[in-house]
Amino acid sequence: MPESIKLAAFCGSLRKGSFNRMALQAFIERAPKDMTIDTIEIGDWPLYNADIQAQGFPDKVQAAQKTILAADGVLFVTPEYNYGISGVLKNAIDWLSRMTPQPFAGKTIGLFGASGGALGTARAQYQLRQTLVFLDGRPINKPEVMIGVAQSKFVDGKLTDEATGKLLVDFGVALALAIRQAKAAATVK
Ligand code: FNR
Repeated sequence: MPESIKLAAFCGSLRKGSFNRMALQAFIERAPKDMTIDTIEIGDWPLYNADIQAQGFPDKVQAAQKTILAADGVLFVTPEYNYGISGVLKNAIDWLSRMTPQPFAGKTIGLFGASGGALGTARAQYQLRQTLVFLDGRPINKPEVMIGVAQSKFVDGKLTDEATGKLLVDFGVALALAIRQAKAAATVK
């Protein structure tokens, strides 16, 4: 029996009817059986300000750091705002990036996203990958999950597009494999 895998997940959209939140839920429903996903809520974090940091990191940021450090991997589900990731997601990453230990360093990471446009957050995902370079994260490369024209793929909060559902299954398998490979490599002396 393989060891279970714990993921810490972020959703970069806060609105109630978010397609990205629906996509995260669709992934959770299709994730490998031995994977558990703990979603970190970031909507009420203060805007990053070094003066606040100097008084001490907010409790929610500290709690998120602990959750990520205890997880085997991180998942980002990102909308695309003006060809980039949302401010709320960047704000969460910026806060966590100032912590010691910096929790994304060396972590296996998965990312995907849903947008109204045809490219399905491609541009936002590549921007997020660029940020992850600085943070020394280890995002998996494939499969890329870019859920375009999202309004046509969800009905009543549920993913109805079969091809996207299959892609999310494949993504979960690839992420689990990358996490297991990273854990195995970490035990090699
Ligand atoms: C958007 N949207 C959008 N879509 C896209 O494909 N590329 C883009 O650059 C943008 N830019 C953008 C900026 C802002 C400020 C908003 C509010 C929206 C549309 C966006 O993909 C759509 O609203 C999604 O539904 C947002 O994700 P959630 O909230 O459904 O998860």
